[in-house]
Amino acid sequence: MKRKKITIGLFGFGCVGSGLYEVLQLTPKLNASVKRICVKNPTKERSLPPENFIFDPSMILNDDEINVVVELIDDAEVAFEIVKAALMHGKAVVTANKKMIACHFEELLFLQHKFRVPLLYEAACCASIPVIRNLEEYYDNDLLVSVEGIVNGSTNYILSKIRKEKSTFKYALGEAQRLGFAESNPDLDIKGLDAKYKLVLLLAHAFGLVVKPGDIYNLGIDRIGNAELEYAEEKGLKIKLLAVAARNSHGNIQAFVLPAFIEPEDKLYSVEDVFNGVRIMSCFADSQFFEGRGAGSHPTASAVISDISALSYGYRYEYKKLDNDEVLQDQHSVHLKLMIRCNKEILHDVMDYFLWVDEYKLTNNEGYVIGITTLKTVSSILEQYPESSAILFDDQRDVKFPADVRLKNIAIHE
Ligand SMILES: NC(=O)c1ccc[n+]([C@@H]2O[C@H](COP(=O)([O-])OP(=O)(O)OC[C@H]3O[C@@H](n4cnc5c(N)ncnc54)[C@H](OP(=O)(O)O)[C@@H]3O)[C@@H](O)[C@H]2O)c1
Repeated sequence: MKRKKITIGLFGFGCVGSGLYEVLQLTPKLNASVKRICVKNPTKERSLPPENFIFDPSMILNDDEINVVVELIDDAEVAFEIVKAALMHGKAVVTANKKMIACHFEELLFLQHKFRVPLLYEAACCASIPVIRNLEEYYDNDLLVSVEGIVNGSTNYILSKIRKEKSTFKYALGEAQRLGFAESNPDLDIKGLDAKYKLVLLLAHAFGLVVKPGDIYNLGIDRIGNAELEYAEEKGLKIKLLAVAARNSHGNIQAFVLPAFIEPEDKLYSVEDVFNGVRIMSCFADSQFFEGRGAGSHPTASAVISDISALSYGYRYEYKKLDNDEVLQDQHSVHLKLMIRCNKEILHDVMDYFLWVDEYKLTNNEGYVIGITTLKTVSSILEQYPESSAILFDDQRDVKFPADVRLKNIAIHE
């Protein structure tokens, strides 16, 4: 099949945009070239001469020779306006902006359908790992059980640095920003929002579920304290930020983002630094694991290039699974085994929210409870007590518990 010639209008020339430009120079076979680059700041120093840059989006959107818009800016709302206009002008779009897609999924589906133009976004989820197209194509017929993993490179980098080098949280975050792994607004990473936006994309391509970011519970890594780090070290566990989409025992889909204790036997345990790891469980293929760079200039650009190449052969997502009639379980009713750390004074009150307690511990000023509770409880405790935190025990999800044995079998350490 002959490739279509691709003439690109590029928005953004930061970490990913400049990486894409460099990678494109090294892939001449692609028959793709950048005609114009639109950026924001006219006074910024750049690696290319000033005549390469424009500041007016309409010079790309109204240029009939440009058949593909590549959107790589860091402002999700402006990005949506650009992508919307590009699709309405009949231009195919490649983007890496998960927040923009997750917050406008339904409108973007509608625009693709109405204007009959493709929108591809492999780089938006796990950067260099080809998970979206695999879910869309390869796992088209196999019955998926779960898609879960470490989908945010900067939080994994921060957690690895804290554990290996005993760095402070602030220092590790600064390093992630300096190396271009973190989002311009670091809250998107450390509060688990970026992982949640990616989970919205995974849910659509794995299960055909179109949900809003607000439908998914997210907790980031910014509340993790010494007690959890010490517990992990003592038990030989690691803490990782997990995004989970999994079918529960009733057949509904559960989805959440939580920091989790990971066992050494788990493949996610050895996924370190800026790497991402995604495990896909399906009925027929069983467990499969993808690992790769989840952020950074060239790794992210590699996924953008792959989408550009796919467009040159006329590829588009077909969203076949949208007719599957799957149901997302209400986030508040999800039962999980968790550790909740809180002030000593409120520990017994917190314990009352648990349906089952395995263990609790009190030290000078604080303590923790380990047991089974709902995400509703986690959300209300964390809202009431800002200094508290919660961590998932990943090996014991979708727990079933006998309600009448509540608070038996408690190991106490005081
Ligand atoms: N960095 C990663 O590892 C990574 C990985 C996966 C996905 N992504 C996604 O890729 C996108 C770009 O991230 P990045 O790290 O490359 O960001 P970045 O380094 O902060 O660069 C952002 C670029 O967007 C431009 N820009 C901002 N507002 C604009 C506007 N209104 N009009 C035109 N240009 C505008 C900026 O222009 P100026 O140069 O003039 O400031 C800059 O060139 C984001 O959606 C991010 O979530 C990033």
